[in-house]
Amino acid sequence: MKLVTAIIQPEKLDEVREALIAAEITRITVSRVTGHGRQEGESIYRGQKVVPNLIPKVRLDIACNDEYVDITVKTIIKTAKTGKIGDGKIFITPLERCIRIRTEETGGQAI
Ligand SMILES: Nc1ncnc2c1ncn2[C@@H]1O[C@H](COP(=O)(O)OP(=O)(O)OP(=O)(O)O)[C@@H](O)[C@H]1O
Ligand SMILES: [Mg+2]
Repeated sequence: MKLVTAIIQPEKLDEVREALIAAEITRITVSRVTGHGRQEGESIYRGQKVVPNLIPKVRLDIACNDEYVDITVKTIIKTAKTGKIGDGKIFITPLERCIRIRTEETGGQAI
């Protein structure tokens, strides 16, 4: 199991979600977050390092079985990418355990 975490532009949320559902990725957590990536251009002003502004982004968390990781990543890239800076990022981390509270099923069954 993996946890696919994507940070995307808020205006891409609906399009990304629609495409994920069309690809049968139907379970998702969406959070409104802020952040900044690497600094574009000059980050020194009058000899001081400038602290970048926090920019609103949307965070998607999708826990899935290993065989769904590629389609999840591909779908997010296809819909969230504009080619401009700030398109976002995808992080993939191993997921150790998952438990469905209602049934107490665990692992891939519970996802
Ligand atoms: N290394 C990181 N760790 C945690 N969050 C990150 C990291 N890189 C990016 N983010 C998050 O993703 C958002 C979008 O990042 P962004 O797309 O600007 O990345 P970037 O590395 O600056 O690439 P680009 O050059 O395309 O702008 C940031 O606002 C931040 O919330
Ligand atoms: Mg950036």
